[in-house]
Amino acid sequence: MDLKAYLNAKRTLVDSFLRSYFRRRFSPPLLREAMLYSLMAGGKRLRPILCLASYEACGKDSKDIIKYASALELIHTYSLIHDDLPSMDNDDLRRGKPTSHKVYGEAIAILAGDGLLTEAFRLLSEESPKIKTQALLKGINEVASGAGIKGMVAGQAQDIISEDATPDGKTLSFIHRHKTGALITSSVRLGAILAAASKSRLDALTHYAKNLGLAFQIVDDILDIKGSTEDLGKPAGSDLRKKKMTYPALYGIEESRKKAERLIEGALGSLRGFPKSADPLREIARYVLIRNN
Ligand code: IPE
Ligand code: IPE
Ligand code: MG
Ligand code: MG
Ligand code: MG
Repeated sequence: MDLKAYLNAKRTLVDSFLRSYFRRRFSPPLLREAMLYSLMAGGKRLRPILCLASYEACGKDSKDIIKYASALELIHTYSLIHDDLPSMDNDDLRRGKPTSHKVYGEAIAILAGDGLLTEAFRLLSEESPKIKTQALLKGINEVASGAGIKGMVAGQAQDIISEDATPDGKTLSFIHRHKTGALITSSVRLGAILAAASKSRLDALTHYAKNLGLAFQIVDDILDIKGSTEDLGKPAGSDLRKKKMTYPALYGIEESRKKAERLIEGALGSLRGFPKSADPLREIARYVLIRNN
């Protein structure tokens, strides 16, 4: 399959949903502007695409769930705005543009993040004729767990607490599985839950996503060292500056890369029983290792 064409097509669907959703105006205009500034600055749309691809892997037509998949991007974008704040990673560039707090000031940046997070759950709670309410409710619970205190927020807290500390494997794995792995896992699981997948399918997809999510963050750590600011659209070397606990800091680049490769092999292995409709998930897993942004 042509992964590039697949990613482009799905990104276009998500972007046009987001654009039309935010066409309506609300006050103050500055809040809307700040939310849209970060949301529409670019971004791979990986979490929505994983959700759509997981739904397709369960034999469904992803057009049914564009709205729910897009809600994941609101959460992800909120997490980036807050992650870049001076009190967190203190970064000035995101998605190739000055960060939200640089343009709008810290207070509006925080509120734009709050707005995106809250709006995501409003979107998720809107019923749709194609999806059973029971499945939707389960999906909302899933996303709240992945984004919240058992997921991303826990990982972000541990990431901050661990700055300057001597790296250790257990803490590092906790940070990465939570700050990044959890929302990625919930994105894949949301697709499967909305498709009313069987328990064995859901378990296999969960295994896929946990491996993929950790690999994704290990590669992010490597790119912080090996990548260029231009390709990344965010400042290379940020982790070193903030003395972050990263995989390369503990294991070195080569061993970190090997770990990411093994995780992707594990992710691919968990899809063994799936039909061809899971090929996008397979290709996305391979792509995570070779991406340059
Ligand atoms: C960046 O995520 C933050 C991490 C969890 C590593 P992405 O690499 O998916 O960023 P965008 O959405 O493409 O900008
Ligand atoms: C952040 O990890 C993960 C989030 C929840 C945003 P990083 O701090 O490494 O993400 P980048 O490198 O700034 O995108
Ligand atoms: Mg961070
Ligand atoms: Mg950061
Ligand atoms: Mg990073």
